[in-house]
Amino acid sequence: MIAAVPTSQEIEQEARRLEEKGLLEVGGYDETALLRLAERTWRINKLKAIKNAVIPAHVYQRPEILLGIADFTGDSYRLAKLCAEVKADTIVFCGVRFMAETAKILNPEKTVILPAAEAGCSLAESITGEDVRRIRALHPGAPVVTYINTNADVKAESDVIVTSANARKILEKLYQKHKKVIFIPDTLMGQNLARDLNKKLGEEMIIWQGTCIVHDSFEPSWLERYRKEFPGVQVLAHTECSPSLVEMVDFAGGTGDMMRFVENSNAPYYMLITECGLGDLARSRFPDKKFVPMCRLCPYMKSIDLDHVEKALSDPDAACRINVPEDIRLKAKKAIDAMFALA
Ligand code: 13P
Ligand code: SF4
Repeated sequence: MIAAVPTSQEIEQEARRLEEKGLLEVGGYDETALLRLAERTWRINKLKAIKNAVIPAHVYQRPEILLGIADFTGDSYRLAKLCAEVKADTIVFCGVRFMAETAKILNPEKTVILPAAEAGCSLAESITGEDVRRIRALHPGAPVVTYINTNADVKAESDVIVTSANARKILEKLYQKHKKVIFIPDTLMGQNLARDLNKKLGEEMIIWQGTCIVHDSFEPSWLERYRKEFPGVQVLAHTECSPSLVEMVDFAGGTGDMMRFVENSNAPYYMLITECGLGDLARSRFPDKKFVPMCRLCPYMKSIDLDHVEKALSDPDAACRINVPEDIRLKAKKAIDAMFALA
């Protein structure tokens, strides 16, 4: 590991930078803990420069990653788009495996590292490339539209990739040419999209049975009580939540859409029904707005901490290095490029 030791003045400066970013409000740090954290983020940022590395971070990552060491943050679509333009030699992806794989698919010549090898995703684990071949054979001619939360072998069997930010728009375009579309693997998002687009499930839209363990766990029965307790609250939910919840909220979308909604509206309270990282980031960005807590932690997203990132930059484990076989990469890239063209 490269030994880089900050002076006390450098630690102090770094602590003030973290404070300005809003870390005291969202991270629960006092001054002593902040100085300890500042020494670590200083070291990681130094290593990052020495290694000519870049750190993209999904909005569900821990606050100290998002506010302390990330070069850019965002939803799955924004991260994929920005990763396609990265100039650095190494990408240390603070997110989950399918996101790091997408970065590798777009940057085969770069080293891509996922700091915690176990950072998977329940949706990605719900389906294999072989499953896609079977479902395609059952519905000849129907395009396979695949949510980005899938492994590279599944992307390789797909016609177009979508994210929460563009799924509806891309499906609308596909339905201009096709009567039937296969949408995989998120069953709840599929049900939400079928209802929005007025498509018959099982006939016009074929879906799979995967779910996100975080968003699948919210249920709508408690919502009215919160509305009474916080009059005027704007309730936002991720489209991976169940249709029974989505139909009761004021706005449903991806994490990027939810953040823009908060930015561009003026409500007395907001409730963000999704992974807790989005609320942390929203509170740091909009300190004058009030948020009613309603979130769950994603164990995959939260498996990465600063120690993992420091190790990824200095001496990464083989299991953390992302590799995608070239034949799979080329096919998966075609489906991702189809998304960029249609979105
Ligand atoms: P988005 O950030 O694209 O909305 O995705 C949410 C998610 O669950 C990613 O794992
Ligand atoms: Fe996967 Fe859900 Fe976690 Fe996102 S929040 S990484 S969809 S398990």
